[in-house]
Amino acid sequence: MAKKKILVFSGAGVSAESGVKTFRDHGGIWEGFDPMEVASISGWGKNPEKVLEFYNMRKNELRNVSPNAAHFAIAELEKDFDVTVVTQNVDDLHERAGSTNIIHLHGTLTLTKEEDGSEDRYPYTDDLKIGSIGRNGSQLRPDIVWFGENLSSMNLHKTQVAAEEADVCIVVGTSMQVSPANSVPWMTPELALIYYVDPGEQDFYVPKFRMNGGFFTHVKKKASEGMTDVIEELKRIYLK
Ligand code: OAD
Repeated sequence: MAKKKILVFSGAGVSAESGVKTFRDHGGIWEGFDPMEVASISGWGKNPEKVLEFYNMRKNELRNVSPNAAHFAIAELEKDFDVTVVTQNVDDLHERAGSTNIIHLHGTLTLTKEEDGSEDRYPYTDDLKIGSIGRNGSQLRPDIVWFGENLSSMNLHKTQVAAEEADVCIVVGTSMQVSPANSVPWMTPELALIYYVDPGEQDFYVPKFRMNGGFFTHVKKKASEGMTDVIEELKRIYLK
């Protein structure tokens, strides 16, 4: 029998147990930095040095962290299910845990690109400086989608296709505050089961038919523990 299709939609909370800060929690990244200064196209226009400093720091922090049990549980799902991971995260912890089909909606901290908009990508290993240039002679910047920029249309298309085919959607570790990424769970079929794994409150809108029909479940736990519960339930439903 064909494997059931699972769309995992992840946010910063899935990496929290690895020691990566979330953005909007108490003590999160946006308490110490103004996103409009360090993560927006207008911030890049005003003070590119500050933006590069922020991403050099985040890229270097990534070297000292490892995937946690939630990333590994998501990777292991591929044994029994057809899995697409759509992540808002720019870290590479899903890859390092072994997931093979990953869409980074907000880009990735492991690559750089040129300001001129060319398709070329380069590994983000050395720190970027003003004056670091690529093959086309244009300034290098992180391969991140900043506020004020569009998501890649190819990534959006792939996400839409995976969402429309999903039997199950696991939303894990996201406050669901950032658009258009936060529309991904609602692209799934009306009868798809949606699990929201997050220890915080669910303070975003859930369409009534999903809530009342019992298709939406909030597993109010940290990612590692919550993923274990969801996977046990999915195995019970689909594999026994
Ligand atoms: P947020 O910081 O907005 O939300 C993090 C979520 O993780 C919250 O709902 C927390 O309750 C939850 N959380 C905290 N610890 C957790 C744990 N151990 N296990 C599971 N969940 C936990 O981060 P995102 O929703 O990912 O974009 O933010 C979306 C986007 O906003 C980011 O991709 C980034 C940011 O601005 C850009 O920079 C373009």
